[in-house]
Amino acid sequence: MRILALSGSLRRDSLNTRLLRAAQELGGPGVEFLSYESLAAIPPFTQDLEHRQPAEVHELRQRIESADAVLIATPEYNGSIPGQLKNALDWVSRPLAANPLRNKPAVVVGASTGAFGAVWAQAELRKVLASIGARVVDAEAAVGHAPTRFDEDGTLIDEDLREQLGEVVDALAAAITERAELARTAA
Ligand SMILES: Cc1cc2nc3c(=O)[nH]c(=O)nc-3n(C[C@H](O)[C@H](O)[C@H](O)COP(=O)(O)O)c2cc1C
Repeated sequence: MRILALSGSLRRDSLNTRLLRAAQELGGPGVEFLSYESLAAIPPFTQDLEHRQPAEVHELRQRIESADAVLIATPEYNGSIPGQLKNALDWVSRPLAANPLRNKPAVVVGASTGAFGAVWAQAELRKVLASIGARVVDAEAAVGHAPTRFDEDGTLIDEDLREQLGEVVDALAAAITERAELARTAA
């Protein structure tokens, strides 16, 4: 199974990107992670182009389509998700009936420098994904005081968090299996 990993932060030393990298080491056999690292290239959304989407958006759509599930790590910016992440999701959501996130298992994690681990942003992102039609998996990792969880090289050093991230990846893998079984029985 293939999981697309997407960080909502464009920052070079992003804690959320580190969190995603740590999660990518925790998939069991048969789990392959694909990284999406072109979020910065997505142009501003305009509904004028929703039926002639830019090449950068087309590529993101294809990356989502080719994955069985999506794992997103989001920072919290002013109580919500970063604008560029929302912008990308707005593009991908159109047209709503044929968007590549429809019925796709998706899970959200998040890291912040403060105590709360981007919980508001994660709640907002789950709401946005559900509104787009993704199957939002009920698992979470809200990583507060995130700089203390990684060493200078960006390696995860918090074993409890490693376990929690492993549970998130397992929950996503279970959702992929469940979706595949549903598709088989419906066929
Ligand atoms: C524009 C901006 C707004 C922020 N707003 C919040 C916030 O509402 N809540 C919070 O916990 N942290 C907030 N922060 C701090 C981020 O949690 C912190 O910068 C975090 O490291 C960003 O994620 P990244 O390391 O993946 O880039 C904000 C940071 C920025 C740059």
